[in-house]
Amino acid sequence: MSGPNASPPYGQVLRLDELLQVARVHDDDVDHVLFLATHQSCEIYFAVVLRHLEAVRAALDARDGALAVRRAAPLPVLVATLVHQFDGLATLPPEAFHAVRDALGDASGFQSAQYREIEYLCGLRDSRFLNTAGFTDADRKRLRARLDERSVQEAYRDFAADQAERESVERVRGALLDFDEAFAVWRARHAVLAERFLGGGTGTAGSDGAAYLWRAARRRLVPDVWPGGADGPDAAGEAGEA
Ligand code: HEM
Repeated sequence: MSGPNASPPYGQVLRLDELLQVARVHDDDVDHVLFLATHQSCEIYFAVVLRHLEAVRAALDARDGALAVRRAAPLPVLVATLVHQFDGLATLPPEAFHAVRDALGDASGFQSAQYREIEYLCGLRDSRFLNTAGFTDADRKRLRARLDERSVQEAYRDFAADQAERESVERVRGALLDFDEAFAVWRARHAVLAERFLGGGTGTAGSDGAAYLWRAARRRLVPDVWPGGADGPDAAGEAGEA
């Protein structure tokens, strides 16, 4: 099946040698493997989410509602997959979770620059997160660039104002709402998981743990697509430091 002009095989296309070398799958302790590889897998998905959001914004700016809906369609499914990542971590017995956590020191998902990129790209822009301890200079540069960019929310607003065909606007609104709802569910699942392991205890980034995540779960990425829009209940949620 492989002649001189054969296309590169599966492993090469996916650069699996490099990928599996940097993947945190080699630890002797399988609880560590589950914990760390789950976080890496979430970061890959965050990157995929970012690419799709950029594509949605481009389609809205090109006034192509059908394409925007098509680009947005995978987003809630990608986020639902991330919810299941938490289900995997919930299988850890409490003592195993605490052993992993002790070994990790202060590292926290709070330091996920891509996660803030998703918030900034959508239009949920709290520049205080630029000061997050643990961000590299490159992280801050990327985040500042996101703050200067047009947001998905702005692109949606302009599209909705311009588009005479209300059905098209409604389809785009529904697609973005599906995404934002899935994201809100992810945030809530995260809070429940933190409660399961930490109870009322603090997080590794120094927040009040599950209580912080429950407050964060009130944030909406694209408030305009919810009933009540930007004036809806707590649309911007509480942001700021952990
Ligand atoms: C047992 C598993 C987990 C627990 C107990 C947990 C707990 C927490 C806590 C307590 C915080 C608040 C900040 C702090 O003080 O550390 C936080 C933030 C965060 N974690 Fe997790 N987490 C878990 C898994 C994950 C996973 C798998 C991801 C995926 C990348 C993740 C991503 C995040 C993000 C993005 C934040 C910032 C949330 C925000 O500011 O809205 N966490 N986590």
